[in-house]
Amino acid sequence: MSSLSNKRIILGVTGGIAAYKSAEIIRRLQDQGAEVRVVMTPAAGEFIRPLTMQALSGHQVHSSLLDTEAEAGMGHIELARWADLLLIAPASADFIANMVHGRADNLLSTVYLATSAVVAVAPAMNQAMWAHPASIDNIQTLKQRGVTIIGPDSGILACGDIGPGRMEQPQAIIDQVSGLFNNSLLAGKKVVITAGPTREALDPVRYISNHSSGKMGYALAEAALAAGAAVTLISGPVNLDAPERCSLVKVTSAQEMLEASLQAAANADIFIAAAAVADYRAAVVADQKIKKQGDEMTLLLEKNPDIVSTVAAANDRLFVLGFAAETQDIEAYARDKLARKKLSAIVANDVSRSDVGFNSDHNEVSWIDADSSKVFSKRNKTQLARDIIEHLVSRHSL
Ligand code: PMT
Repeated sequence: MSSLSNKRIILGVTGGIAAYKSAEIIRRLQDQGAEVRVVMTPAAGEFIRPLTMQALSGHQVHSSLLDTEAEAGMGHIELARWADLLLIAPASADFIANMVHGRADNLLSTVYLATSAVVAVAPAMNQAMWAHPASIDNIQTLKQRGVTIIGPDSGILACGDIGPGRMEQPQAIIDQVSGLFNNSLLAGKKVVITAGPTREALDPVRYISNHSSGKMGYALAEAALAAGAAVTLISGPVNLDAPERCSLVKVTSAQEMLEASLQAAANADIFIAAAAVADYRAAVVADQKIKKQGDEMTLLLEKNPDIVSTVAAANDRLFVLGFAAETQDIEAYARDKLARKKLSAIVANDVSRSDVGFNSDHNEVSWIDADSSKVFSKRNKTQLARDIIEHLVSRHSL
């Protein structure tokens, strides 16, 4: 089975002579079992007719942000959420610059900003434009954000120049995007992931919590789904949309997260604890709002159950990956948690930094298990999650 089988792909087409090759890309993606929707920029329509793309894809072509009929069918945010992959081919120099600057002045750039799908770009431009420092910087920025750059190819360009800038051939593009999904890695496996913070109530209006946004856990859920797993995502309160095809269990407190985790992990293969669980909760939760009482106030807290170690102890054939959120002596504390909680492996991150860890789009971590360790340098959480899943599979026969 192709790794693109059943994948939902938005083919973004921008203005350039290579747009005629996009028609062939649709066909080749469909040959791999993918479902394709096409989004065209206004300039793309000057090079290839939307009707051609509509006939080939079997779906209405999306081209305007202001098209009320199209928005009523599948709006741009819905479209962005629908996709597993956003492939922009050809991507003009102008469109690439728009991506870098986060401009949302047409439908395709808006979809790019709104999607959490894997993004791949096949640039096509004149060789001098490709070699310009501005283009070099733009491509570098996109790479750092986890965008896959395909090509360009070298040869005679439409303008007669010779050099790099020609869009990659459709088959080479298909081969590279296939490599972005290895959905046989976890095919048939059940993966349970905890994400986000827990909230421990003090009274009906107040709680103890932390800065976890859920981004790391949600990215892991996406990556596990892309690797072919059936995923249960147990999430504390966050402002994120869960991947459409996972089974989402919303919880608030550590106790609720424990119960959901034990239930879901009972017949799972892998448990990943990315949630930032509150270690303590109020010994007594007040029924009514606690009134102000003088200059000081003492709260009596009691220990919460340790979810990841309870789950590990309940199922010894489960692969249990914990996370260690540390602000100092990161490796030593992580190794201690690995042993004490009887985990299969642990991913350690530095939560004292503002550019990674809590509530950031990026993270930098170390994977530690009984006989190996590996550093994953700073990258966005989408890419990191894919790398962690791949490493997990490579380290352990499941
Ligand atoms: O959500 P983001 O904003 O994207 O941030 C990501 C993150 C920093 C939250 C994530 O990368 C991370 O480090 N998650 C673990 C946070 C944490 O609680 O770490 P810890 O070192 O306190 O706990 C160690 C492990 O025990 C964790 O797997 C944790 O889920 C688990 N634990 C902790 C306490 C508890 N009562 N039960 C648990 O299961």
